[in-house]
Amino acid sequence: PDTVPLGPPPADPPPALRIEDYRHRARRRLDARVWDFVQGGAGSERTLRANRRAFARVTLRPRVLVDVAACDTGTELLGARLATPVGVAPTAYHRLLHPDGEVATALGAGAAGALYVVSVFASRTLEEIAAEATGPLWLQLYWLRRREILAGLVERAAAAGYRALVLTLDAPQLGRRHRDARNGFAIPSGISAVNLDAALMASAHRSDAGRSALAVHTAEAVDPSVTWADLAWLRGRSELPLVLKGVLTAEDAVLAVEHGADAIVVSNHGGRQLDGAPASLDALAEVVDAVGAAGCPVLFDGGVRSGTDAFAALALGARAVLLGRPVLWGLAADGAAGVAGVLGLATEELAHTMALTGRPALPAVDRSAVARGAAAG
Ligand code: FNR
Repeated sequence: PDTVPLGPPPADPPPALRIEDYRHRARRRLDARVWDFVQGGAGSERTLRANRRAFARVTLRPRVLVDVAACDTGTELLGARLATPVGVAPTAYHRLLHPDGEVATALGAGAAGALYVVSVFASRTLEEIAAEATGPLWLQLYWLRRREILAGLVERAAAAGYRALVLTLDAPQLGRRHRDARNGFAIPSGISAVNLDAALMASAHRSDAGRSALAVHTAEAVDPSVTWADLAWLRGRSELPLVLKGVLTAEDAVLAVEHGADAIVVSNHGGRQLDGAPASLDALAEVVDAVGAAGCPVLFDGGVRSGTDAFAALALGARAVLLGRPVLWGLAADGAAGVAGVLGLATEELAHTMALTGRPALPAVDRSAVARGAAAG
């Protein structure tokens, strides 16, 4: 015979080779309504799709004969040393995905040396998460109507060792998420945003066909009347650095810096808020150019599904990138190990991309490393 016999294929399923593998595993494990809650976007989901498509228009510009024997993904962000610039975006209710909820996420992020931004809608207490965490934590907030609750959260965050506050600005109302409305999606009893007042949670559990309980709940809990002028109140409550999440324009980026933001997150909330907003990646350079001179670090989230995607966002000026849905896939698939697995894969792929593009350290991952043009692949 002119072919070489290879022997039987391995009996065990192969380990996860890419982040997508965790998506398949998660889908098999999750209730269809939880899956829709995780995956869905707002309106026609045009912005959700745009987030992914934007990455297909970026190609990488490799340089050769550079010493890439050691590629260093380490970085520093607001004083915290991180093994990787890939971190965990704030996402709500992790107990929908795993019984240990946010504690498992914190263990996974710590194992990967990654930043974890805990959502104010966490289903474990801030203190439980901090007690088990082995890496830096930031706390994400929405501006609650009841300022005394917001003030209490800010105090608890500092006491528990959180290192920054992240205020999410793109959700004065919840996006119109048709999948959740069709499913009458509500948070099951037994899972709750335990860091909020119990009375504030009642509406999140009331399922009602044709309406998502979360939309009603958000309308009750979140104050849609806040403006730039209110930020001083929050700043006055805490010494912690303040990060503003959900900025997509140069105008708002400049205002953020003027109002003392310590960092900005370019984000369209994973396509879950304003349908028709630009792909997050397409807004990144505009924001970086507006605030770069002020030295304000810009973080990025939206559609990152590989270390190659992370590399593209870093090259366009992000100091770090955050993963939303992929972390939830890892959590649902395999708890803390799955979260560490997703972050580890993204970091390994990033280091590999740094090697093959001849950029062995993050400062060398700059705009010369990318070109943007027609969709590729
Ligand atoms: C989110 N996101 C979010 N953002 C936030 O500031 N507070 C929150 O509580 C949540 N909750 C939440 C739940 C779920 C299920 C998802 C998918 C997303 C948005 C999140 O922080 C981030 O902006 C996006 O998820 C990033 O896009 P990718 O990585 O999911 O494409």
